[in-house]
Amino acid sequence: MERLQKVMSNCGVASRRASEQMIADGRVRVNGVIVREQGVKVDPDKDIILVDGKRLERQAKHYYLFNKPKGVVTTCNDERGRQTVMDYFKKEKDRIYAVGRLDQNTEGLLLMTNDGELANILMHPSKMVDKTYEVKVKGRIADSVLQHLADGVELSDGMTAPADVYYLDFDGRTGLTTVEITIHEGRNRQVRRMFEYFGFQVHNLRRVQYAFLTLSGVKRGSYRSLTDEEVAELYKYK
Ligand code: URA
Repeated sequence: MERLQKVMSNCGVASRRASEQMIADGRVRVNGVIVREQGVKVDPDKDIILVDGKRLERQAKHYYLFNKPKGVVTTCNDERGRQTVMDYFKKEKDRIYAVGRLDQNTEGLLLMTNDGELANILMHPSKMVDKTYEVKVKGRIADSVLQHLADGVELSDGMTAPADVYYLDFDGRTGLTTVEITIHEGRNRQVRRMFEYFGFQVHNLRRVQYAFLTLSGVKRGSYRSLTDEEVAELYKYK
């Protein structure tokens, strides 16, 4: 048995909050009876749920690994008319959304799904899903700075947890150092802020890995579906 508003949001009717409002407004019937109170439990396989008179259908779940280009915003609707991740999924009929977000100027791996349960599991701070970024910054970085980044940096919202940090390359022509960093948290603009702490402006930021998933074979601006095995593996974070 599951809460009615959760079943509604899992079926793609609306967010949980908006579903609660629809219930309060008397738009939802369970087995012929209008339900207005919150928290009613239903069995989506047995109970007949009507929203505005229309039978709720269980929606197939979709899981995509998207290689987000720079300059694209991670929202469904941008009021300033900027390009959004949804523009890349126009041919998919079901409503999907991003698991977490990447800054407009960050590129790389972003999961997209309509599975609210999995999205909630992966985004929960206690789950510590590893996220690996390739960071390019102007200038050379001292080993002591790399060690400090790994040990933890005092940001405005507290100390960062230990991270894995590797020096990859210094390009004498462009003057850019490339570093790979794996963090286990997901605070707002975290990687940029960690480098800014030392006065480094991030020139390019790309998420190359999320949990065990990599960008391998997925070109910038394209996506692929996850396999059933990959989805099952992600559910192990539960
Ligand atoms: N850290 C950032 O600073 N930006 C992102 O988009 C992701 C992680």
